[in-house]
Amino acid sequence: MDRFLIRGGTPLKGTVTTARAKNAVLPLLAACLLTEDTCIIEDVPLLEDVSTMLKLLKTIGARVEQNNRTVKITARGKLNREAPYDIVRRMRASYYVLGPLLARFGNCRVSLPGGCAIGPRPVDLHIKGITALGARVTVARGYIHARAKSLHGGTVMLEGYKGPSVGATINTMMAATLARGETVIEGAACEPEVVDTARFLSAMGASIKGAGTPEIHISGGKELAGARHLPIPDRIEAGTFAVAAAITRGEVEITNCCPEHLTAVITKLRELGAEVETSADRLCVRTNSRPGPINISTAPYPGFPTDLQAQFTALLALARGTSTVTENIFESRFLHALELNRMGASIDINGNMAIIHGVERLTGAQVMASDLRASAALVLAGLAARGQTEILRIYHLDRGYEQLEKKVNQLGGKIKRIHVS
Ligand code: EPZ
Repeated sequence: MDRFLIRGGTPLKGTVTTARAKNAVLPLLAACLLTEDTCIIEDVPLLEDVSTMLKLLKTIGARVEQNNRTVKITARGKLNREAPYDIVRRMRASYYVLGPLLARFGNCRVSLPGGCAIGPRPVDLHIKGITALGARVTVARGYIHARAKSLHGGTVMLEGYKGPSVGATINTMMAATLARGETVIEGAACEPEVVDTARFLSAMGASIKGAGTPEIHISGGKELAGARHLPIPDRIEAGTFAVAAAITRGEVEITNCCPEHLTAVITKLRELGAEVETSADRLCVRTNSRPGPINISTAPYPGFPTDLQAQFTALLALARGTSTVTENIFESRFLHALELNRMGASIDINGNMAIIHGVERLTGAQVMASDLRASAALVLAGLAARGQTEILRIYHLDRGYEQLEKKVNQLGGKIKRIHVS
């Protein structure tokens, strides 16, 4: 398992380009199963999670041709209708094949994902979505088995007690494209990744209205055809570099990003004292002093994203006063706080709230990454800390950030990857 050695204390300066969004690319790749024609996804980030999804598509029997960042998927001929535990346990987003396989073949088995470091990850809303389209679903021996002679349109409310579900909205929307008649998804997630998937499905010939609002209408039943698609930029990677600029008191220009997807994040950066300039596809963040204390509450889009909570917790650890961070989506997503305390932070956890007493400086230490965004928070803390930080288990980071250390080092950071075979 690789490790990072980080020597902190250098302000990051320069320009960095974000990759395309992992959380858009994963459902886009699964959506390619909806047609027997070839689909092409461009500028795909070279990430562990993407490799896992491609492996799953190959296991299902789709032809996968990858030429650097261009991926061609052809799901024709004899295909398996199963997502096995061995792959799903590595990546929860494997559940994105549920909707397409069911809609295309009327029958599929997808392993239940099981536990996760960020808290419970139920799938009841995914099941509710496909059941509304006429599927019969049984859960046995760790697998969801879904069957339907033919799917039909239906109306379904997908807002759970934690708010709308991105995954369930996308899965139901994908299945509905091949279901006869009109489907209405109420309480739909509005995340940009939902909109991007709808754009791809529309390019394949689906008729979808309202993606990006809480009510999506899908007029389904037509065969879909192949299409070519360029996914949206990764808003979470852009937000992570914005925090990197602020925590090291540097100046970073982030290009190929979409500031419009980061409105809540930019508001918080300005509130804590960072200077933020934006244009259509570029964000520039600079600070030269400690952040002011602020309060953050995570919420579904367009609210403050849970996927940037850990990174902001690291930043606020250095604030001039006490901040609070309330996690409303995955309530136990705070493992990074305990590791940050090992670096000198003063964070108390009370239920789903972190109370962060800002300290003047962090000091390097050996810390352990627990999930993707927690790892990013530790890297950010290490870049700001005095001395050397060693981060163990960085494979979590490789799931969602492409060559993070290379990008950070181009901005003047000092991260060394230690390969351990
Ligand atoms: C997506 O996960 C992202 N993953 C997550 O990013 C992100 O944190 C999350 O959305 C929220 O924005 C991908 O896109 C691959 P949800 P997803 O269904 O779709 C509850 C990262 O770091 N819920 O929107 O699985 C759930 O427990 C990852 O890149 C149900 O109750 O999240 C949560 O409280 C981590 N029943 C809330 O809904 C269900 O059936 C939102 O979850 C499904 C979800």
